[in-house]
Amino acid sequence: MSNVFRLLVLSLLVIGKGDGVYGLVDEYRRDDFPAEFVFGSGTSAYQVEGAALEDGRSYSIWDTYAHSGFCSGANGDIACDGYHKYKEDIELMAETGLEAYRFSISWSRLIPNGRGSVNVKGLQFYNDFINRLIAQGIEPHVTLNHIDLPQILEDEYGGWLSRKSVEDFVAYAEVCFREFGDRVLHWTTFNEANLYALGGYDTASSPPGRCSSPFGYINCTIGDSTYEPYLVGHHFLLAHASTVRLYHEKYKAMQHGFVGLNLLLFWFEPYTNTTEDVKATQRANDFYLGWFLNPLVNGDYPEIMKKNAGKRLPSFTKIESEKVKGSFDFLGINHYTTLYVKDNPKSLETDNRDAYADMAFTYTGIEFPIAEFPLKPMGLVKLLSYLKEEYGNPPIYIHENGQVHARNATLIDTPRVAYLQAYIGAVLVALRNGSNTKGYFQWSFFDLLEMVGGYGYGYGLYYVDLDDKELTRYPKLSAHWYANFLKGNNISDIVISNLKVKGSFSS
Ligand SMILES: *[C@@H]1O[C@H](CO)[C@@H](O)[C@H](O)[C@H]1NC(C)=O
Ligand SMILES: *[C@@H]1O[C@H](CO)[C@@H](O)[C@H](O)[C@H]1NC(C)=O
Ligand SMILES: *[C@@H]1O[C@H](CO)[C@@H](O)[C@H](O)[C@H]1NC(C)=O
Ligand SMILES: *[C@@H]1O[C@H](CO)[C@@H](O)[C@H](O)[C@H]1NC(C)=O
Ligand SMILES: *[C@@H]1O[C@H](CO)[C@@H](O)[C@H](O)[C@H]1NC(C)=O
Repeated sequence: MSNVFRLLVLSLLVIGKGDGVYGLVDEYRRDDFPAEFVFGSGTSAYQVEGAALEDGRSYSIWDTYAHSGFCSGANGDIACDGYHKYKEDIELMAETGLEAYRFSISWSRLIPNGRGSVNVKGLQFYNDFINRLIAQGIEPHVTLNHIDLPQILEDEYGGWLSRKSVEDFVAYAEVCFREFGDRVLHWTTFNEANLYALGGYDTASSPPGRCSSPFGYINCTIGDSTYEPYLVGHHFLLAHASTVRLYHEKYKAMQHGFVGLNLLLFWFEPYTNTTEDVKATQRANDFYLGWFLNPLVNGDYPEIMKKNAGKRLPSFTKIESEKVKGSFDFLGINHYTTLYVKDNPKSLETDNRDAYADMAFTYTGIEFPIAEFPLKPMGLVKLLSYLKEEYGNPPIYIHENGQVHARNATLIDTPRVAYLQAYIGAVLVALRNGSNTKGYFQWSFFDLLEMVGGYGYGYGLYYVDLDDKELTRYPKLSAHWYANFLKGNNISDIVISNLKVKGSFSS
C-alpha cells in the first residue's frame, strides 16, 4: 500500500516537472499527428504465442536456444499463451485503442518442415488472427522473421550461413503474401537484421548462439565470430531484396502493400568532441545502420566496413548490388536510447577481430543488466534527422520503443509513462522538422519472454501474472496513458486523469 502511495507521489512529480524536463514538447494530442500516421504496439511470435509443439508447429532456433538455458533459463513453451488467448487479447488491443498491431508469423508454425507443405492449423490461426484484428479496425503489420528460423533448416544446412536460406525464405514469404496479402499491407522481412547477425553469430547473445573465442558471452562450441556475422548479414540482404522484388513483381499491383527491413538503432553521440571520438561515432553509425542501409540505398557496404573487415566482409557482385539497391519500401527501426562513443583504436591492432573489434569503439550510456533506459528523446529526433539527411528521408516506421523494468506486479509504471510521453513527443518534433516517419509502435503490448532476462524484465503496457494459471493480463498506468492519448486527449491532462482511475487496477 505505502509502495503504491510512493509511486503516486512520483506520478505527480511528472506533472509538476512539465516544461519539457522529460520531453521536448509539453503537450500534444493524437490530432497533432497526421491522420494517416499509425500508432500501435507490438510483440513477436515466440515471445507470446506458446503452444510450441502444438497443432503441428516445429521448433525454431529460438526454441532451441531458450531450451539450452540462454534466455536466463526461461523458454517460450507457454509464454503468454497467446496462441490460445488471442481472441481476448485482440479485445484488449481494441480497448486500448490501438490503430495497428505489429506481430510476427512463426515460420515453423506455418511451414513446419521449413519448406514445402503448409500446416493447415497454422494457416487457420494466422488467418483468424488477422481477420479479428481487421474486424476491430486494427491494421496488421507483420514481421516475417523475428529471430526464429525453423530449426530443421539450421540442422540441414546451417541456416543463414548458407545461401540456401535465401531461397527458402523467399518461398516462405511468398506463402505469406499469397495467403495473407489480401489483408496485410505492411511486411517486414527481418527484425533487427543487424543484431540478429551480431547476437547470433558474434557474441552468441541470441539464437542460434554461435561464436568463437574470445568473443562470445558463452563458451561456444561452434561458430566463427570473425566472419559469420558478415556472411549472415549478406544473406539477409539478398533474401530481403529477393523478397521485395518478388512482392513488387507479382503481388504489389494487386495487393498495394509495402515491404521493409528492420534494424536496431541507437543514437550515437561522441563521448568528447575530439576528432577521434567524432570519427568513431560516424563509424558506429556506418556499422549499425550503414551496414544494411548503404546497400539498400547505394548498392554497397560503407567504405569503412570494407576497410576494417577486409576479406571477411562479402562483396556484392554487380547483379546482387543492383538487386539490393532500392529494394525497400520503408525502414523499420527499433530505438531505445542514446549511447556515447569513445574511439578504441587498439582493437584494430590484432588480426583476430570480430565485427565489434572492427568497429573500434567503446560506449557508455547503458549498463548491464539494464535497469531502465535513460530518457534521451533528443536522440530519436537526431536519429530521424540523420536518416533524412544521409539516406534521402526514407519512409520510417518506429517498430519498437519503450521502457524496461524488472518485472513485478506494480501496475503504476510511472517511468514508462514518462518515457512514452517524451519519445512520442520526440516523434512529433521530428515530423514537424520534415521526417518521413509513418508510424510508431510501442514495445511491448504485454510483458513477455525477453531475449535478455527471460521473464525477469518487462516492457509491457499489460502485466501478465505468471503465477496465475489463467495468465491474467492487467493494464498498467502506461496502458491507460496510451489509451487516453489514442482517444485524442491532451497528454498534459492524461497523467492526472489516470490517477483518478488507479483504484480500479492497483488493488
Ligand atoms: C568458459 O570456460 C571457462 C574455462 O573453462 C570458464 O572459466 C568460464 O566460466 C566459462 N564461461 C562461461 C560463460 O560459461
Ligand atoms: C561538443 O561541442 C558541442 C558544440 O559546441 C557542444 O554542444 C557539446 O556539448 C560538446 N560535447 C562535449 C561532450 O563536450
Ligand atoms: C516494478 O516495476 C515498476 C514499473 O513497472 C518500476 O517502476 C519499479 O521500480 C519496479 N520495482 C522493483 C522493486 O523492481
Ligand atoms: C531539422 O532539419 C534540418 C534540415 O534537415 C537539420 O539540419 C536540423 O538538424 C534538424 N533539427 C532537428 C532538431 O532535428
Ligand atoms: C492541455 O492541457 C494543459 C494543462 O491542463 C493546458 O494548459 C493546455 O491548454 C491544454 N492544451 C490543449 C491544446 O488543449
